[in-house]
Amino acid sequence: MFYPEELVEEVRSKNDIVDVVSGYVRLQKKGSNYWACCPFHGEKTPSFSVSGSKQMYHCFGCGVSGNVYTFVMQYENYSFPEAVKLLADRAGVKLPELEYTEEQKARAGRRARLLEVNKEAAKFFYYQLRSPHGEAGSRYLQARELTGETIHRFGLGYAGKNGAELVQYLRSRGFEDELIKEAGLANYSERHGLVSQFWNRVMYPIQDVNHRVIGFGGRVMGEGEPKYLNSPETPIFDKRRNLYGLNFARTARSGNIIICEGYMDVISMHQAGFTQAVASLGTAFTPEQANLLRRYTELVLLAYDSDDAGVKAALRGIGILRDAGLTAKVINMRPYKDPDEFMKALGMEAFQERLDQAENSFFFEIRILQEQYDMADPESKTRFHREIAKKLCEFSEDVERDNYLQAIAEKYFIGIDNLRKLVASYAAQTGLAKPIERPRSGVQTKAGPEESARKAQRLLLTWITDEPAVFEKVRKYLSAEDFTEELYRKVAKRLFTDMDGGSFNPAGIISTFEDEEEQQAAAELFNTSLPQLGTRQEREKAFHDILFSVKKNSYEYFSAKLGSDVNALNQVIAGKKALEELAKTHISLD
Ligand code: UTP
Ligand code: MN
Repeated sequence: MFYPEELVEEVRSKNDIVDVVSGYVRLQKKGSNYWACCPFHGEKTPSFSVSGSKQMYHCFGCGVSGNVYTFVMQYENYSFPEAVKLLADRAGVKLPELEYTEEQKARAGRRARLLEVNKEAAKFFYYQLRSPHGEAGSRYLQARELTGETIHRFGLGYAGKNGAELVQYLRSRGFEDELIKEAGLANYSERHGLVSQFWNRVMYPIQDVNHRVIGFGGRVMGEGEPKYLNSPETPIFDKRRNLYGLNFARTARSGNIIICEGYMDVISMHQAGFTQAVASLGTAFTPEQANLLRRYTELVLLAYDSDDAGVKAALRGIGILRDAGLTAKVINMRPYKDPDEFMKALGMEAFQERLDQAENSFFFEIRILQEQYDMADPESKTRFHREIAKKLCEFSEDVERDNYLQAIAEKYFIGIDNLRKLVASYAAQTGLAKPIERPRSGVQTKAGPEESARKAQRLLLTWITDEPAVFEKVRKYLSAEDFTEELYRKVAKRLFTDMDGGSFNPAGIISTFEDEEEQQAAAELFNTSLPQLGTRQEREKAFHDILFSVKKNSYEYFSAKLGSDVNALNQVIAGKKALEELAKTHISLD
């Protein structure tokens, strides 16, 4: 832990989760909780709840949970220490200087300086554009039909006639040559010394999700090579892990995110109201970017150029998105080249229609595939059908595969039984695809007896947090050792110790874990959906069953460890006794 536990807890308790979350999303009170559309996945009806009494949030749609730290980490893409810092500042708590090693200090300081110099450069370009020198830039952007508001929103700027001015300006603001160079803003040349490669261009600052400038793209005004000049990768500019426009798109809540190829496409879509548009940074779309998108949406619409290169990029993108567990659809831009041209020619309503008609990515793949075959030639047509069968094997879920099989058979006039046989024979040769592993474990549940034992443990922990009064009854039969999953046991130990001592603070337990995934998993334990039970009798039966199930699982767990674990014998003896007693006891919940 970077900071002492008491301090982490003090900062947490001074930041009411309802206050903090309402700074990011609009919450509405319903019953004892607050509700909103989930900021971590696309949805139209609110399933994201924030509980003031538990000081936790939970989304019943996508399963995210946590306390105020987890929220800031997930929303801002912050590390734990960064989240502590933000919330400490917010609550006016002074944090001690972190005990960094010299190397950590140098690295953290360096990153901060790189961000500063980029910000300063963005300011310079921004003011240049608005000065008399920047007239050419202004004229260019106006010719591209950008409004003053759009230019301001994206912080567009202008790099003047020579590359020395930026360097002079940055030096005057106290930045060393070495740093300016490391930020990718200038290079040494023998003749001119340190000069920027950005000159005579309109400048597009590239921002991370927190609106921090991390690099630039500069466009020539008119014809010229290269059309766009981009900052090189630097310690703060990772082209694989950032997306242009995501700082705005992440809060668009449109139920989808549009990815396109160009900066200009993003800007003109945003100007037309499609603020969910993003683009990669002059490089191909990456799995890291797909993962980033998964925080904000389940549906990605591809708006790539309609030329061959764009189709190729779309096919690649579809594969990457599918691997990340996202749904992809393809927007048809024809007869226009890209979203920017489309928007100028036909406008936003026509574009919205294209969004609504976006093509299922599998149909798109098959349609493109077909172009390589001659349907009049039986030989070629057969090869096409074989390729379809192979692709169908990529679906891991039977229902999904069969639905696609039926749809494709119908679309391409293939006998459905023949296609089924063909798929079966490929599946026999190469096997069907394995289900995708989705990193955020809370979203999916594993079936089987082990999972049901785990579920009972989660239900019990949630029940205790929802109704602390039941703890007394739980304590009679269970100890923290009865939670057999390691993380569960850690959490139960804290909870039981706290409650034995008369305190109750589940949200505080979550921040004893530093890792976001662990916080998430711990928080899920306090946010399992309890069965909706009407009568007291039903509730008592359910409570009894859960207790019994947790104890029985623990009994079996320790029985299997007899002989290898010195604790096991005691646990087994106590377990047997408790089970016998539970079997004949009625627990009342008054
Ligand atoms: P495009 O050539 O399609 O440009 O490149 P565009 O976005 O339509 O730009 P305008 O409308 O002509 O101004 C798509 C993207 O590829 C990257 C940039 O990120 C660009 O937005 N690119 C392109 C470069 O990085 N360098 C280049 O020389 C060209
Ligand atoms: Mn364009």
